[in-house]
Amino acid sequence: MRILVAITGASGSIYAQRLLDNLDTHVHEVHLIQSQYAASVINEELPDSLRVPERVAVHSLKSMNAPFVSGSNVFDAMVIIPCSMGTLGRVAHGLSSDALLRAADVMLKEKRKLILVPRETPMSLIHVRNFELLLLAGATLIPANPSFYTRPQTIPEVADTVVARVLDHLGTPHQLVARWREEKD
Ligand SMILES: Cc1cc2nc3c(=O)[nH]c(=O)nc-3n(C[C@H](O)[C@H](O)[C@H](O)COP(=O)(O)O)c2cc1C
Repeated sequence: MRILVAITGASGSIYAQRLLDNLDTHVHEVHLIQSQYAASVINEELPDSLRVPERVAVHSLKSMNAPFVSGSNVFDAMVIIPCSMGTLGRVAHGLSSDALLRAADVMLKEKRKLILVPRETPMSLIHVRNFELLLLAGATLIPANPSFYTRPQTIPEVADTVVARVLDHLGTPHQLVARWREEKD
């Protein structure tokens, strides 16, 4: 698959890190783009900064010379993780003012897989209305709401309860988190 991972300035940079860590770049073509504010939050939250795996193609927000800004260059999926309410609102309203927003717009218009991992609390009516718009337009929303029934012991294990659902929706096999009532080997 050709997958675009987009990171924004919502809390939860670790979700993006764990997703990048778990996408096999020998199997998938993985591209990365970051919003203007992603780096500020990464600096606060990831002590070793973002580790970009080898073979991941990194793109500039300000250049439209990226393959995914045109529907003619087919990508299978885009994941915005974590997704700020600002980016979510801009995507919901079709703003395409940079390469990240344009890529999301392309995914929606081409009926391709767009997964957003929103993070905010509490929610306003504006956020919820934007969720509705995105769902109607065909996006998948996987909120950054970790689960605890698998008893995660570390922060990465907590994050993986969300990333596992993203990988499920991408259709990539993984064994990140035990599944409910799955027999252990
Ligand atoms: C440490 C930190 C954490 C933040 N967490 C969130 C968050 O969880 N959700 C959110 O919508 N915005 C959050 N913000 C605010 C966004 O970074 C801000 O709205 C920014 O304009 C988003 O821009 P972007 O969508 O281009 O990344 C946070 C900001 C900082 C500095």
